[in-house]
Amino acid sequence: ISLKPYNTFGIDVNARYFVEITEAKDLLELRLSDVFRTERILVIGGGSNLLFRSDFQGLIIKMSIPGIQASIDSQTVYVTAGAGVVWHDLVMYCVNNGYAGMENLSLIPGTAGASPIQNIGAYGVELMDIFYSCEAFELATGEFKTFSFEECGFAYRDSVFKHELKGRFIITGVTFRLPQPAAVNTGYGAIQAVLNERNIVNPGIADISGVVAEIRVSKLPDPSTIGNAGSFFKNPVIPESQFDGLIANFPNLVSFPAGSGCRKLAAGWLIEQCGFKGIRDGQTGTWKNQALVLVNHGGATGEEVYSFSEKIIEAVYAKFGLKLEREVNIL
Ligand code: EPU
Repeated sequence: ISLKPYNTFGIDVNARYFVEITEAKDLLELRLSDVFRTERILVIGGGSNLLFRSDFQGLIIKMSIPGIQASIDSQTVYVTAGAGVVWHDLVMYCVNNGYAGMENLSLIPGTAGASPIQNIGAYGVELMDIFYSCEAFELATGEFKTFSFEECGFAYRDSVFKHELKGRFIITGVTFRLPQPAAVNTGYGAIQAVLNERNIVNPGIADISGVVAEIRVSKLPDPSTIGNAGSFFKNPVIPESQFDGLIANFPNLVSFPAGSGCRKLAAGWLIEQCGFKGIRDGQTGTWKNQALVLVNHGGATGEEVYSFSEKIIEAVYAKFGLKLEREVNIL
């Protein structure tokens, strides 16, 4: 089966086996199959954070469990979503019901089930700010387990599911905790700028959602027309001491505070400074409005995108002495 429709980079590779799961209990049956026991397994949601370098010799499990439920407990709304719920549909469900907390995460590609794995984040909010728990299926035992916030080990674009528990659990559903009423989060400079420009003084959550969606559309390529997986690299987080050395040489360095004695650098800026913004390399390249996003102009192979990303890592290292880490999962 071709995986082209199942990865937003639009890389045309094949998988040996492919199964779509629409109910958590189907995993119990799947677990008993020969394919499950003998093949390498990859679980996918929206395929929006993946780069396939070659055909996948194994079983792809696409999580498509639907359903959104909300329950209100005094001032707090708990929203539970099946792993396959499209992330933006979940955000819109909350915005339309007046549940504040997710609006800054509008228009992020992907699914609810994948959201905890890399602790998705944008425009001043991270998943960990609203996460309550998730339900997951343990491949080795066939048992379902609930993970609390503490057990997930969240950090910037990171969680336990990328480390100790990598490949060991399949997230089947996620519950979010949204305390109400909540103040809107307009701290991100780009949001404030649009609000000022429009003279929106007391923005509601629908305003924030709309503004965030607009900013995203203006900066990021739409995966349905130009293959991409959002930010390809993480923004490097470095100690203040290293930062002091860099800023002395590069006074325009773009950075943000990142907790105790650390700074987060804008990788997009570093890449742009190396002359890589909006450049094309065969069928791949960087996006014209956001150098951190690698794109497939059509027909690029995964290997082509990967080797282009190597060139970027080398260029940034040569100029700044920093080693960019990929944010996208490479397969
Ligand atoms: N910048 C440049 N040139 C560029 C791109 C960015 O100079 O080509 C500088 C600008 O100064 C800009 C700053 O970098 O103000 C930050 O850029 P932006 O607001 O676009 O955010 P980002 O740090 O590049 C991160 C996330 C995005 C998220 C945005 C908004 C990561 C790896 N990426 O990007 O997440 O949407 O912030 O909050 O943390 C994703 O993970 O796939 C993703 C798109």
